[in-house]
Amino acid sequence: MERSLILIKPNAVQRGLIGEIISRFERKGLRLAGLKMMQLDDTILNEHYAHLFERPFFPYLKESMMVTPVVAMCVEGLDAVETVRLMVGATNARKALPGTIRGDFSMSGEQNVIHASDSVENAEIEVKRFFREGELFEYESAITSFEYGHEERARM
Ligand code: PPS
Repeated sequence: MERSLILIKPNAVQRGLIGEIISRFERKGLRLAGLKMMQLDDTILNEHYAHLFERPFFPYLKESMMVTPVVAMCVEGLDAVETVRLMVGATNARKALPGTIRGDFSMSGEQNVIHASDSVENAEIEVKRFFREGELFEYESAITSFEYGHEERARM
């Protein structure tokens, strides 16, 4: 089953949005495989945002991610990476569509409440970066046949 990594950023923690954000993914039907709070540090952020090292906002982005603990989530489902990105909305939250998480809760490209893996390849790397083996759980959903159709279940 495809998995995606989500980080609820410190600005969302400060604003009391943790429950609302988790709830959106849960209600959508994405299954939680892992969930924890973490205080991020320089080491993990340098790795996670290595592709942005040259960008002028790199230090500000890192700083903004260490203000409070974040909530790390691993969710799974059919086409989970793309589905999560659609739910999250555009990076610049002022341009994110209403109904998306950023579109509903943010006005910023930095303080944009949430991070989500942008490709299946990166999702695999990011899930491993934030979760150890024993922190991820596989369990049967009792209602899969009410969440997915026959052909979809065959792809899972
Ligand atoms: S993308 O498509 O989400 O990867 O967009 P990108 O523009 O590459 O942004 C990657 C992350 O950088 C953050 N960002 C910024 N932080 C601070 N200041 C400015 N100006 C800024 N612009 C972009 C953005 O929130 C993305 O963080 P993550 O955690 O990947 O969502």
